[in-house]
Amino acid sequence: TNEDDIVLIPDIHWSNYQAIIGQTKATYDTYPLFEGDHFNLSGFKEKALDVLNKTGKLVVLLNDPSQNPTGYSLSKTELQSIIAYLDVQAKSHPVILIYDIAYLDYADTDYGLTRNRFEHFLAIESDLLVAVCFSASKTFGVYGLRGGALIGFSRNGLLIEEFSRISLYKARSTWSCPPTTPIHIMNALDQDETLRMTFIEELKAVRSLLQARAHAFLVEANEVGLKMYPYKEGFFITIPCQHPQKTYQSLMTKDIFVIPLSNAIRVAVAAISLKEIEGLPEIIKAHLQ
Ligand SMILES: Cc1ncc(COP(=O)(O)O)c(C=O)c1O
Repeated sequence: TNEDDIVLIPDIHWSNYQAIIGQTKATYDTYPLFEGDHFNLSGFKEKALDVLNKTGKLVVLLNDPSQNPTGYSLSKTELQSIIAYLDVQAKSHPVILIYDIAYLDYADTDYGLTRNRFEHFLAIESDLLVAVCFSASKTFGVYGLRGGALIGFSRNGLLIEEFSRISLYKARSTWSCPPTTPIHIMNALDQDETLRMTFIEELKAVRSLLQARAHAFLVEANEVGLKMYPYKEGFFITIPCQHPQKTYQSLMTKDIFVIPLSNAIRVAVAAISLKEIEGLPEIIKAHLQ
């Protein structure tokens, strides 16, 4: 990246993106993520055009499905429209889509369905480069073991050669090599069918538990009229509010710990039991500031 490069991210995003982008020479710009309870396609296109006009290129970073922090997942049509738009722009400009799938395995109802969304990428006709970021932390429950993958694809083989060379160079010159434990886990699952099936069943059970918790929270939240950003699936539910720090402090007095964000608080349904969810939306609503 150059100093003038701009990475386009939504206005509601995982705050670490700011640090990640900040340690390259690039900066970031945002578009409004939602229009009502849907992805704001026109807001996205408007900002993308702005970035293209300013820099002559476009780098888009999307966290989908089960976005952190809102739990939003793009619909099939929304994802198709974003890809189609980037494909058109990539016919005349360099365009990269960084597709962060950290929470892929907590979306939909089964392992196969989550992966269907990759079929939309087959429609790409241009030299659009897609860089898929996979994190082993969530899928395999191995937080901190620093396992993951960066998978690049494009119709242009030369771009992929360059992507591969630069990624390798960047990796070796920053964090070097990943630890062997997550690699062993992935190899063991790949080589042992029984183990893999057991793992997929475990993942299914965990996903269902998460969905049950989110459902319980959403039902109660709707009953008490607690407004949330449109949640589909995933670890977190995000509630807009005017004074997140004050709300966070106030909830702490009730032993309820949320993450204050910009104009919102984030509740981790992934980290609380069904029992703990009972009555929680009502308490949150009463403490919102
Ligand atoms: C949106 C998003 N992307 C990527 C990651 C990366 O996770 P890790 O560093 O554990 O692989 C996280 C982790 O919280 C995340 O929330």
